[in-house]
Amino acid sequence: MIYLDQSATSLHKPPQVAEAVYRGLTGKLGNPGRGAHGPARDALKEVAQARRALGRYFGVSALQVAFASNATMALNMAIKGALGPGDRALTTSWSHNAMLRPLYQLQQSGMTLDILPGARLSIRDIENALKPDTTAVVINPMSNVSGDTLPLDAIATLCLKRGLLLIADLAQWAGVRGMPDVAEWPRTLLAFTGHKSLYGPQGTGGLIKLGDVSLCPVFVGGSGIHSFDRDHPDAFPEVCEAGTANVAGIMGLAAGVGWLMETGQQAVTDRLSEHRSHFVAGLRNIPGVTLYGGQLEPGPVVALNLAGQDSAWVCEALDRRFGIAVRGGAHCAPLWHEAMGTVSQGVVRFSFSYFTTRQEIDLALDALRQLAAGGPC
Ligand SMILES: Cc1ncc(COP(=O)(O)O)c(C=O)c1O
Repeated sequence: MIYLDQSATSLHKPPQVAEAVYRGLTGKLGNPGRGAHGPARDALKEVAQARRALGRYFGVSALQVAFASNATMALNMAIKGALGPGDRALTTSWSHNAMLRPLYQLQQSGMTLDILPGARLSIRDIENALKPDTTAVVINPMSNVSGDTLPLDAIATLCLKRGLLLIADLAQWAGVRGMPDVAEWPRTLLAFTGHKSLYGPQGTGGLIKLGDVSLCPVFVGGSGIHSFDRDHPDAFPEVCEAGTANVAGIMGLAAGVGWLMETGQQAVTDRLSEHRSHFVAGLRNIPGVTLYGGQLEPGPVVALNLAGQDSAWVCEALDRRFGIAVRGGAHCAPLWHEAMGTVSQGVVRFSFSYFTTRQEIDLALDALRQLAAGGPC
């Protein structure tokens, strides 16, 4: 099987990720922060170590990192925890439902929401769409459908200049692109997922807080501290971490990030760019391919269609005839599909990992060539 669906989740992980999860499950670890005995202390040490590893990767301190189950949970905590009826937020048509749905919920309870339309976006468009009373920019800087990117650093500078809160969805960005230097960034919340290009296990992710952002807890409950308070602690990261942590998963995530740092983010980024360029160059010789996006050094994601074929049909044929796993249909980004006119056809999405090989990409191109030529299926 050739797996080209990294944007959904990473299938091939560095071996140290599974080793760390195994250690998490067999290493006699207790509940971190719940008790002072050896196993509880050992678990707390592992979580603290993982927090430091994530902090190093993102260029922040350990206590600016809160763990969550995935990017969806982190985005819900960021959006619902930081915004309210008095806010006016700007987002774009690239937003994933993990951002759109919490934003729509807030809109129903009185927040003003502006959505920048169109599939090709620039920093200038974002700047022009800001209103005098805009309070927050809520942005996905790497489209999960096309891989198109927006300049995260320039958006942060714009938010700093205008005194706006920045909430960014790094689900596709983290591990694909290096983190800009965040030292001068404005009040910011960065949501990441662990199981895609940070190569961690599913069920991991988190939120990073920069600057003075006041967050209301979205989930409340046991925190291991202040047991007699009626309210959940409001200090970060505890404000985002109600209940028992996924210790084994967090250890696996730290191992994934450790591998990424050892390998070198730039080496990973370069290899992913080569994969994309090679694939896109090969597509040029295949008749009937419609390619979507491709702006501003896109990430390792390619969205395409084969003439008028339904994207789900193409995916099924790739899977059944060639053993190639890619994703078709809609990709949880409804406004992107509306802007691109692919609501009914969907798009076939190919996405590459560091572990994808040149040979796998060539086989995928060959399979598309055969499908485009109308081979049997
Ligand atoms: C851009 C984007 N945001 C958010 C998510 C949600 O990530 P998770 O499944 O980790 O919650 C995804 C997942 O595909 C995504 O691509």
